[in-house]
Amino acid sequence: MASPAVFVNLIDGAWVPARSGATFENRNPADSDDLIGVFARSGEADVKAAVEAARRAWDGWRLTPAPRRAEILFRASQLLMERKEDHARDMTREMGKVLKETRGDVQEAIDTGFYSGGEGRRLFGETVPAELPNKFAMSVRSPIGVCGLITPWNFPMAIPSWKIFPALICGNTVVIKPATDTPLSVINFVRTLADAGVPPGVVNVVTGTGSETGDPLLRHPDVRLISFTGSTQVGRSIAIACAETYKKCSLEMGGKNAMIVMEDADLDLAVEAATWGAFGTTGQRCTATSRAIVHRKVAGEFAERLVARARALRIGNGLDEAVDMGPCVNESQRATVESYVAIGTKEGARLLTGGKRPTGSHVARGWFYEPTIFTDVRRQMRIAKEEIFGPVLSILPVEDLDEAVAVANDVDYGLSGAIFTRDVNRAFRAMRDLEVGIFYVNSSTIGAEVQLPFGGVKQTGNGHREAGTTVLDIFTEWKSIYVDFSGRLQKAQIDRVD
Ligand code: UN1
Repeated sequence: MASPAVFVNLIDGAWVPARSGATFENRNPADSDDLIGVFARSGEADVKAAVEAARRAWDGWRLTPAPRRAEILFRASQLLMERKEDHARDMTREMGKVLKETRGDVQEAIDTGFYSGGEGRRLFGETVPAELPNKFAMSVRSPIGVCGLITPWNFPMAIPSWKIFPALICGNTVVIKPATDTPLSVINFVRTLADAGVPPGVVNVVTGTGSETGDPLLRHPDVRLISFTGSTQVGRSIAIACAETYKKCSLEMGGKNAMIVMEDADLDLAVEAATWGAFGTTGQRCTATSRAIVHRKVAGEFAERLVARARALRIGNGLDEAVDMGPCVNESQRATVESYVAIGTKEGARLLTGGKRPTGSHVARGWFYEPTIFTDVRRQMRIAKEEIFGPVLSILPVEDLDEAVAVANDVDYGLSGAIFTRDVNRAFRAMRDLEVGIFYVNSSTIGAEVQLPFGGVKQTGNGHREAGTTVLDIFTEWKSIYVDFSGRLQKAQIDRVD
């Protein structure tokens, strides 16, 4: 057998294995025989070297004018366009979502690169009048320093790009630890950045596990900020670790997103959106539609049409263009889905379709699971409240909009939400009353564009927003500057004569 491809860390501009020589395997979740490669299993010494490199590179990078930094981002985005198909194929192979979606993932990185590059000639601060004569007052954004980025496997290039591009345009340097399921996509991304001219040490990658690689990054005193996307549980422990070492910390965590379907909705459209929202990316999105809160008058018909759509979805290896839905990302993720299906059944929800692994030789070596729909789900059930992160949709019938809103808000999360209605009054009420960070009218809970803030309320986040210009507030600190050109010592508040 040919020896497997070997992928290593990028530290200080050099591709290097883990100091210990340890590695881990990365396999295709659609086909366990397909070994993508072995990757560096990094430990504290590797993280330390990466942080030191980032620290050394910081002065040179922060003092490079932002419009010049932007030129590198534009070049990187251009290169990503050229490499889009290759990167999409690698991504499908390592995490399973279908090619259409992985192309979208790379596209989101391209969009973020161009958008962030544009900020190189903006990064606006404020100038305001001073209260004293011959005095000038302004605020500017300052970079933070070395940023530690910990990223998930479900958007293996898009989410790293949401963090790396803005961090760089603001003048920070970074060390990224990708999810163990998707190191290749981050290596592909970072290689492109290096090819575009990002100087050595400005972007470093250390691959490995949360405990061996993530923890030392979290605890390193020279890391000034941690930006994390992943589960709410891990996010909580990251926040605690950051508090102990006084790091700035931005968290993007779970969701339990609902779409409300009123009795006046375009049902075909709602069914289409639910199919995409619940089963796109095999339900493994923080923005996935995991609850359909449907007016009782149309709940039966909605469910019936949706079941037909779900059953028609072709499951398989996402590299096959005819496939609609790939596998769960790994064995433990599928086990979680299976445990929730058992919980839902025990709680008394009615299983309409799915609820098992598909059969057939084309799915025999992957972590596949059928699109699954429960109805008659009640709001207090665990499947109505907890994030499953798999292809499971719960239908909750309700009497009216008030009940729909109350049910939608009756969870610990608040990422995205949607309403399907033709009534503008209802649309505006839902828009106002849903406790979410992203809201859609007549569209699914998925579909965020990079130029608006991305993030959520309650246990979904900790008050930050990625994307848009709001991400700049994560990766910069404000500095207020007063320039006194009066030639005298003027005292604010004190010099005033009433
Ligand atoms: C995620 O769900 O983890 O909203 C990110 C979307 C994407 C990003 C989703 N652009 O559809």
